[in-house]
Amino acid sequence: MRFSRIRRDRRNNRVFVAVADAVSTGAAAASLEPVVGWIHVFIDRLLTVGPRAEVGGIVVDEAWRGRGVGAVLLRQAEVWALSRNISQVVIHTNVVRGRAHKFYERYGYHLLKQSRVYIREID
Ligand SMILES: CC(C)(COP(=O)(O)OP(=O)(O)OC[C@H]1O[C@@H](n2cnc3c(N)ncnc32)[C@H](O)[C@@H]1OP(=O)(O)O)[C@@H](O)C(=O)NCCC(=O)NCCS
Repeated sequence: MRFSRIRRDRRNNRVFVAVADAVSTGAAAASLEPVVGWIHVFIDRLLTVGPRAEVGGIVVDEAWRGRGVGAVLLRQAEVWALSRNISQVVIHTNVVRGRAHKFYERYGYHLLKQSRVYIREID
């Protein structure tokens, strides 16, 4: 499973989740803290540039968007990167995600370059 693989490599990967305040589940008399967002950040080491932290994914529950949850997740990823002595965070994002672009720009990210992604199924 992809998540277990990421979990095993804790040195180079982190997943942070945002949870809402606990809600009572009634009969079970237990409480749940629903996850309302998550971010995956990992350390990317290439021959051509120094180590960078890269955001592998960030999603906030639709009902929670626009309330600062994404900003907190992004900051958490940045704090983790800094704790590893990494001072650059990079994000690859699809050109169609206009709202996400606004989000990154709002929180201090600038467009570095535009690129194409090629893939081939190999056997
Ligand atoms: C992009 C995303 C993570 C932002 O999370 P968020 O919690 O809504 O962001 P914040 O509340 O911290 O910041 C709000 C800013 O994000 C942007 N934004 C992007 N999508 C938004 C949405 N659906 N609702 C409100 N703001 C949104 C706006 O620029 C907004 O700033 P504004 O209030 O000045 O308009 C979230 O909208 C999301 O999960 N989108 C779908 C998945 C996605 O596109 N992920 C990124 C892939 S690269």
